[in-house]
Amino acid sequence: MSNWTSNPLGMPAVVVGGGTMGADVAVVLARGGCHVTVVEPHTERHERLVAHGLAELAAAGVITAPSLACVASLDDVDWADVGLVVECITERLADKQALFARLDKLAPPGAVLTSNSSGIPISRICQGLPGRARMLGLHFFMPAHLVPLVEVVMGEASDPAAARAVFDLMRACGSVPVMVRKDLPGFLANRLQHALAREAFALIDQGVASADDVDAAVRFGFGFRFLAAGPVLQRDHAGLDVHCAAASTIYPSLNNSAEPAQVLQAAVAAGRVGMKAGAGFHDWPDATRATERARYDSLLRAGLALLSPELPRAAGVGPSPAPAPVFSSDTATPGPAPAPQP
Ligand SMILES: NC(=O)c1ccc[n+]([C@@H]2O[C@H](COP(=O)([O-])OP(=O)(O)OC[C@H]3O[C@@H](n4cnc5c(N)ncnc54)[C@H](O)[C@@H]3O)[C@@H](O)[C@H]2O)c1
Repeated sequence: MSNWTSNPLGMPAVVVGGGTMGADVAVVLARGGCHVTVVEPHTERHERLVAHGLAELAAAGVITAPSLACVASLDDVDWADVGLVVECITERLADKQALFARLDKLAPPGAVLTSNSSGIPISRICQGLPGRARMLGLHFFMPAHLVPLVEVVMGEASDPAAARAVFDLMRACGSVPVMVRKDLPGFLANRLQHALAREAFALIDQGVASADDVDAAVRFGFGFRFLAAGPVLQRDHAGLDVHCAAASTIYPSLNNSAEPAQVLQAAVAAGRVGMKAGAGFHDWPDATRATERARYDSLLRAGLALLSPELPRAAGVGPSPAPAPVFSSDTATPGPAPAPQP
């Protein structure tokens, strides 16, 4: 197959599910120049969805806003020239499988069908479907229009040309794509996040450090450096010999549990599941929550501004000849999945 397109300008794209993620994924596609239709059955949300999209596009400096519309069902979409579908519905395998079976029939042959699932491998979602070669994982991070990263995840049957086209299209939309050649649970970034989180919560369990000190160690220590260099490049700065020596000393005592930490399980059992419940590690009454959200959002935006010279497209609509980001995975042309590690 060679008809996948990587040019978003004027391309009709469909986002299925206009919840937390779908609303922001629509902004990403629209800022690249796609004509976006969001399929969201809760029609009372449509007006807010479009208003949010247009406000974020304006904030991103997109002057010539492409069309951004909402419909209630897949049957209301004009499928004729759709080039990309991003599924952002609730995280339930059976629902996603049923949706992809329908999409495979509705979407034209030139459309790539993707899932923003946080954890379900695309190979499971598209199992047995005739069009599985055009199906990929496309995993954004919340808020999708502010966090530049997006993972292009290849399933067992995914066509490398489709993956490459979506990779290029994401760059043209201003995101920073990485190619994940095998759809392991957690793909790439969540595996890294959870490796860190397992140790962080284990240290709290063991009384080695408080929750606040764990946060400080990351934010004001090695996490602060991540704005300038990822963990691989940073080791080139620091010295691989030093890293190897420290690894040999530290690895044997790192947490390797298959269970979440006690402190996490206890919080969940007590209903202290975070801001949405009014409490997690901290108490979150409404007023504090709003202030925290504003602080968090404004730091993310400031970080994004700092990184913007290294992003694929600083502003405007359409594919950009902007220089490749420092950590471009352009060389990551999809190839055969590596053999599983022992
Ligand atoms: N929230 C996150 O931080 C995050 C991050 C990355 C990926 N994801 C993944 O993105 C997906 C969506 O998550 P979310 O947080 O936006 O959920 P959400 O509950 O906020 O939104 C889901 C939306 O999909 C709609 N929907 C459900 N079934 C549908 C169907 N069959 N057709 C059309 N619309 C349908 C719902 O009405 C709802 O508005 C999930 O797979 C989730 O795992 C979430």
